[in-house]
Amino acid sequence: MARTRVAVLVSGRGSNLHALIAASAAPDYPAEIALVLSNNPASPGLDTARDAGIQAQAIDHRAHGRDRAAHEQAIDAALREADIGCVCLAGYMRLLTPLLTTRWAGRMLNIHPSLLPAFPGLQTHARALQAGVTLHGCTVHLVTERVDDGPILGQAAICVHPGDTPETLAARVLEQEHLLYPLALRRHLGGRAAGPREGVLLAV
Ligand code: GAR
Repeated sequence: MARTRVAVLVSGRGSNLHALIAASAAPDYPAEIALVLSNNPASPGLDTARDAGIQAQAIDHRAHGRDRAAHEQAIDAALREADIGCVCLAGYMRLLTPLLTTRWAGRMLNIHPSLLPAFPGLQTHARALQAGVTLHGCTVHLVTERVDDGPILGQAAICVHPGDTPETLAARVLEQEHLLYPLALRRHLGGRAAGPREGVLLAV
């Protein structure tokens, strides 16, 4: 089976990266995690990748000052150099410009810690609690030039419990992220388990 060469872009901890690497160990998984890039040289995700024998590279945005285009050109060049077919943003905390979103349209996924279109942006768990929602969760979607927007590929929902804090919610949502992202990527790449083209839905 030809596996798509996938790059994962991270900024920090890299637990979703870890989940994607673990899923890709299955022989029938349609993606090979071939490259990990980070805008943050101190990202633990880079070590996670290297420990797994995956090529990992920091492309520090600070080296490019305010020139977002130059930073994104460097990312794009690294993706092309590694013959990447699909990009997964996994806790990549830089806003993207059309330079990347246009070049990778339909081939760039993101995971976001809310049930989009609710709570785009930051501090999603605190905002969910403040809004009094009873369901919360995470979303995998295709990336467009609009932040935390684009066609939804899958969602996982959890119940909000009395006494939940942003931290307890974040922890339960993160568990679902680790299940959802590998499933949504598998579905997107049309792997063996792919059925009709409908979004993945997990609910616990
Ligand atoms: C995850 O919760 C992810 O959904 C979120 O950052 C965290 C990264 O964790 N992404 C965003 O907020 C992007 N808008 P990880 O580094 O352990 O995967």
